[in-house]
Amino acid sequence: HSAPVLTIDGPGGAGKGTISRLIAERLGWHLLDSGSLYRLTALSAIGKGIALDDEPALAALASALDVVFRAENGEAVVELEGRDVTREIRTEQVGNSASLVAALPAVRQALLERQRDFRQAPGLVADGRDMGTVVFVDAPLKIFLTASAEERARRRHLQLREAGVDASLSSLLKEIQARDDRDTQRSVAPLVPADDAIELDTTRLSIPEVVDRLSELLSRKG
Ligand code: C5P
Repeated sequence: HSAPVLTIDGPGGAGKGTISRLIAERLGWHLLDSGSLYRLTALSAIGKGIALDDEPALAALASALDVVFRAENGEAVVELEGRDVTREIRTEQVGNSASLVAALPAVRQALLERQRDFRQAPGLVADGRDMGTVVFVDAPLKIFLTASAEERARRRHLQLREAGVDASLSSLLKEIQARDDRDTQRSVAPLVPADDAIELDTTRLSIPEVVDRLSELLSRKG
């Protein structure tokens, strides 16, 4: 495993997805959106009628996921069993289901190697909850991105509105807080910063400001 990894962990809505994509583009590195694997597992389970607490069945599903990540006209496209599910995996329902599935140790174990396979030259930007604490513990630079729950709800609201989805700000805030609780309190790979992570609060920062700070940190690492 010689390729360098930049891990970007943090709660949902802190801007990890956008920031990770922009940094990966700037560096010409690969990108791992680890949350999408949990989302895909949840979506697949829902489609197959598998209960979201049936750990052995979900782990089997996770290890056999038939997924293709590809770029189409510069946009990331995700296919599950040959079907384009790019938009479907982004819904709040799938996100919440993903966080249930992600609390199961056997599911996390089943997705571990698949995530590590993304580590290829010239480098990888890995976006998730446990990239720095579990999946890539030896990463040379680990970032923990946060923002207040209110700010994250506001951002999600904007994002959904741009996608033409009508959602109430207060219910989004409740969902974000519930998901934070589940992600931070679960017994396996809870959402916590790695000991050697650099924490960055993005509440009052714009996306370009965050990208600049991270680029600066990276260049200091040489
Ligand atoms: O980041 P995203 O919102 O797509 O992740 C969906 C859910 O997947 C999270 O709420 C979290 O429960 C889970 N997840 C995880 N570990 C990761 C990435 C995501 O447990 N590395």
